[in-house]
Amino acid sequence: MSGLLAGKRLLVTGVITDASIAFSVAKLAQENGAQVVLTGFGRLSLVERIAKRLPEPAPVIELDVTNTEHLAGLADKVREHVDGLDGVVHSIGFAPQSCLGGGFLDAPWEDVATAVHVSTYSYKSLAVAALPLMSPGGAVVGLTFDATKAWPVYDWMGVAKAGLESASRYLAMHLGKQGIRSNLVSAGPLRTMAAKSIPGFEQFEDAWTERAPLGWSLTDQEPAARACLALLSDWFPATTGEIVHVDGGYHALGA
Ligand SMILES: NC(=O)c1ccc[n+]([C@@H]2O[C@H](COP(=O)([O-])OP(=O)(O)OC[C@H]3O[C@@H](n4cnc5c(N)ncnc54)[C@H](O)[C@@H]3O)[C@@H](O)[C@H]2O)c1
Repeated sequence: MSGLLAGKRLLVTGVITDASIAFSVAKLAQENGAQVVLTGFGRLSLVERIAKRLPEPAPVIELDVTNTEHLAGLADKVREHVDGLDGVVHSIGFAPQSCLGGGFLDAPWEDVATAVHVSTYSYKSLAVAALPLMSPGGAVVGLTFDATKAWPVYDWMGVAKAGLESASRYLAMHLGKQGIRSNLVSAGPLRTMAAKSIPGFEQFEDAWTERAPLGWSLTDQEPAARACLALLSDWFPATTGEIVHVDGGYHALGA
């Protein structure tokens, strides 16, 4: 087996369509020698159908990251397919509609709590659930959208992402002793199902299309996926708690 991830065993969450960032990660990972196990949320038959479009059909395990039974049983279910894990990809985000699109001042705590549970706390939950299968050299990688700034319509999802960025640094601190890294990829806007659920998302699309120094494709998930692969590989052995921007350089600009 050859490729950047030759022989690595990965757990990839977050596939729901073939536009999902996670789908690109799974596809590229297989093309680069990895064995991939997927998790799916809710519409499992849909995820299973999408999984068949990968170069190698991948098994799908049901996982709602807010479900403690699913989390407790995850390691055993993964063990049915692989004998350990070298990498875990968290590609999960959700916020109720009240939390997005300009409703920042009115969103009720219950909705904000859901956004933070699914999009922030779950990063830790997933890592801990997978930990019994991991060993030194392992990596956890997640996806963020630059949370150092307040964006027009991102609202509480932005707050959840700020929490995710912090959670990744804390995970890096707590898992460092076990030789496990935690890093995030900060991607520019991509037309996925999650993105389409954000009212006013086209504002991001226009801004990136006009201003990203390297230019930006709204439909090419591969650059973000490539960065995930690099962070999962052995080529960032001393990097943890880091955020790698894959946004055409947009974050480097001033107002
Ligand atoms: N699309 C973008 O513009 C963009 C930019 C930067 C970061 N991201 C991040 O990338 C990640 C992947 O999103 P995407 O854009 O590929 O969209 P997507 O809609 O394809 O993926 C989101 C995934 O989250 C899963 N999910 C939601 N609630 C869940 C739960 N309770 N348990 C388990 N899974 C759950 C969905 O099933 C789906 O597979 C998210 O963290 C998102 O915030 C997206």
